[in-house]
Amino acid sequence: MTKTNPIKMGYRMLEAWFNLSFGPSWNPLYNLGTLTFFFFWVVLVSGLYLFIFFDTSIAGAYASVEYITHEQWYMAGVMRSLHRYASDAAVITILLHMFREFSLDRYRGFRWFSWFTGVPTLWFVITLGITGYWLVWDELALYVAILSSELADALPIMSSSMARNFLEGQLTDRFFTLMGFLHLLGQPVLLVVVIWIHVKRMSHVQISAPRGLAIGSFIALLTLSLVAPVQSHGPADLSKVPDVLNLDWFYLSVYPLFDFWTAGQIWIFTLSTTFVLMILPWLPPKKTGPAAEVHLDHCNGCGQCADDCPFDAINVQARTDGARWAHEVVVQPSLCAACGICVGSCHSSNPFSQKNKVLETGIDMPQYPVDELRNRTDAAISKLHEENKILVFGCENAFDISTLESVNASVVEVFCVGMLPSTLVEYALAKGANGVFITGCRTGDCYFRYGNVWLDKRFDGGRKPRLRARADRRRIMVFRGAEMDGAKIKHALSEFQNTITDLNGQDASKLTTHKNQESSDERA
Ligand code: HEM
Repeated sequence: MTKTNPIKMGYRMLEAWFNLSFGPSWNPLYNLGTLTFFFFWVVLVSGLYLFIFFDTSIAGAYASVEYITHEQWYMAGVMRSLHRYASDAAVITILLHMFREFSLDRYRGFRWFSWFTGVPTLWFVITLGITGYWLVWDELALYVAILSSELADALPIMSSSMARNFLEGQLTDRFFTLMGFLHLLGQPVLLVVVIWIHVKRMSHVQISAPRGLAIGSFIALLTLSLVAPVQSHGPADLSKVPDVLNLDWFYLSVYPLFDFWTAGQIWIFTLSTTFVLMILPWLPPKKTGPAAEVHLDHCNGCGQCADDCPFDAINVQARTDGARWAHEVVVQPSLCAACGICVGSCHSSNPFSQKNKVLETGIDMPQYPVDELRNRTDAAISKLHEENKILVFGCENAFDISTLESVNASVVEVFCVGMLPSTLVEYALAKGANGVFITGCRTGDCYFRYGNVWLDKRFDGGRKPRLRARADRRRIMVFRGAEMDGAKIKHALSEFQNTITDLNGQDASKLTTHKNQESSDERA
């Protein structure tokens, strides 16, 4: 049964609102990771263009940026604005991505690794932005440079005071070039490595934003760049105190803290915030059920479960038991999310087979074996006595399906709809259910990433094990919704019940016509 909290409900409402405007496939809140990648692409391409005109010397940097902004405003100027605004947009999507994983409780248990490695990406992105601000070498750059030097001085690693060097005008060309190197090459390469580690434990990771969303975001960035082109402050001048500094709060929000705190206190604040964020998955830890188990007697090593596993927890290896198959699969328990998707992937999870015996399959969940799933299905169907018997399968991470139970609707909960073998749906219809209604997380938002997608593909024939052609699709309905979408789900179920009533009527009259035809043929 699903527990909800106010943050989760609030976030869900926001998502639902975005779904109305964008639809599930283009909903930016379902595509925060891919949108961040898209903004990085814009930053990269615009950055490469700017590099053509940028002078990396301390004497020439400001003038070259002024040339970019004013002389070649129509191209390099636009690129400068795109570079800035896409960087800001990336911080927004990263923060939202982080908030989403937190508010939907997708950061603990088996997800600890993604969370733990996600936090440092914030440091890498923000420090990359900070070195970018140095390169303009205007008043803001000087402000950033001096305060950054004070931060560096507070660390016990510097032999002489960097801040003093600045104030004494001893900033050398070499040091400025080092900043350029860091911003243009060193930090981006490190960021790529950190992001690679961040998504390493997941399979089928999407890095391309949906085309429409990418085009829309680009148009928005371009419009902003044309309407409000980015400008520099006056040139860096140590003898002058700037009147106004327009801070970029996405990257430079740490510097105003100097008005209240010393550099040491700022370090303590930022490092302890980072530390708390990183240990969140263990405060309190989330328990994940036992990992999937492989039963080699029923595994032919086809590898479908390994391909379907959303968390890369299953590997295919050479056979070890001397059976005639070349391969077998092996589960890495520490990576297993206990979602059961592998059970739905296994062709031997077939409830029609092994009748009157315990149903065994190639890969199974010890805490909820496929045999128990079959037994629960049988029991749920046998509870139904009305005309329109509907069996509801539902995911335990979405709407609480126990509230759908009625005289003509019985429910069976699963860890994820991807755990459902396609043959179990056929089995339910063959065993007396007049309709099968499946509900789970909202489209585009599966708690276990790919359960929804695989179910759809298995049902439309695009992925094994497929729902067979002979299954009566008119009697199967998939309707998705989150915890708070109960009214919509109940409405869809009642519509489905009406459809089933009509179908039962049509099928009964077809049967009568058929029988009448047969008896008149016999009489003739
Ligand atoms: C440069 C910044 C980041 C990028 C480009 C990025 C990208 C991604 C991508 C592409 C995924 C896989 C999503 C999927 O296919 O289901 C992901 C997952 C995840 N990210 Fe990030 N991320 C970033 C920063 C962060 C941060 C700062 C956090 C939190 C501290 C975070 C936490 C997570 C978590 C917990 C998941 C696992 C989601 C799941 O298992 O369903 N990420 N990230």
